[in-house]
Amino acid sequence: KKSVGILGIGSYVPAKVVTNKDIEKMVDTSDEWIVERTGIRERHIAAAGEATSDLAAIAAQRALEDAGVGAGEIELILVATATPDMYFPATACLVQSSLKAVNAAAFDLSAVCSGFVYGLVTGSQFIMAGTYRKVLVIGAETFSRITDWTDRSTCAIFGDGAGAVVLGETSPGCGVLGIHLGADGAGGDLLKVPAGGSRQPASAETISQRLHFVHMNGNEVYKFAVKIMGEAANRALENANLSPADITYLVPHQANIRICQAAAKRLGLPMEKVLVNIDKYGNTSAASIPIVLDEALKSGRVKNGDILVLVGFGGGLTWAASVVKW
Ligand code: ACO
Repeated sequence: KKSVGILGIGSYVPAKVVTNKDIEKMVDTSDEWIVERTGIRERHIAAAGEATSDLAAIAAQRALEDAGVGAGEIELILVATATPDMYFPATACLVQSSLKAVNAAAFDLSAVCSGFVYGLVTGSQFIMAGTYRKVLVIGAETFSRITDWTDRSTCAIFGDGAGAVVLGETSPGCGVLGIHLGADGAGGDLLKVPAGGSRQPASAETISQRLHFVHMNGNEVYKFAVKIMGEAANRALENANLSPADITYLVPHQANIRICQAAAKRLGLPMEKVLVNIDKYGNTSAASIPIVLDEALKSGRVKNGDILVLVGFGGGLTWAASVVKW
């Protein structure tokens, strides 16, 4: 088995910033409530006409430049998203076209906020097996398009953005050391976009009932998240023959600062060991982990030899963790 590492990383968020003060004008909420309950202060929102594949392609281009890898070398593009440009073609195919990555196969992966780590694990397998040499994994979302801006229980939470990594062979002992993926479909109703699929196709009724937006049982998702983040991280660490004491940084999905704090507590980690940027971007779903990781790398916070645990949870329900030695 080959060792698989992240050869380059890039991210992109749309220019437009929506602050909590802006949200105060839309629904009955307050900056204080949002900051205290979620840790979010502002989020970036895609411009009209700007779709998920546009954000994904910019993040991917930055990752390719960071890795020093040409688009033509990429053999697989995997886009993790719950907000594709359209049903089909896959967003990954649209990105392939934008990048002119003519030698790449392309497909999307649906695991909502766990999607990036699911994608990282999936992409790694092709390299470990020797099937492909360079794989592009992207987490990209425009949750603003499925956000009900009249629903105060969800509209303050989400933001748009994209993050991408180029995977390739690395030195033995580095890169992806351990993984853990999981799902509990019985919890699917807790977090969903009810209509627009084959069960409830779009109709005047589904539109009037606002069923094309995110519906979430926030309390239940919160309880699930607090429990699963630590568990998933521990399972991936066990898979790598490591323990929480070995972690340099926990890189959690940025859903809620209190969920990140609870996960850190369960793993016995101080918050200095947890990468957090939710205040600036909100929950960007599949994009949140590569965005926070990109920032930490570019600022020099993460260094060679560091052991990172990437861990996400989301709709499905799904969860995913990976131990990566930098
Ligand atoms: N502003 C003011 N009040 C609000 C707001 C708001 N934006 N949202 C909810 N409230 C009110 C509620 O109506 C409720 O009022 P009530 O008691 O009169 O009914 C009160 O605040 C408390 O509501 P709770 O839902 O109990 O608040 P909680 O502290 O649980 O915070 C939150 C809600 C932030 C949604 C939290 O439950 C959470 O973060 N859950 C996890 C969500 C999550 O991570 N989802 C993403 C998963 S990833 C993916 O796959 C997309």
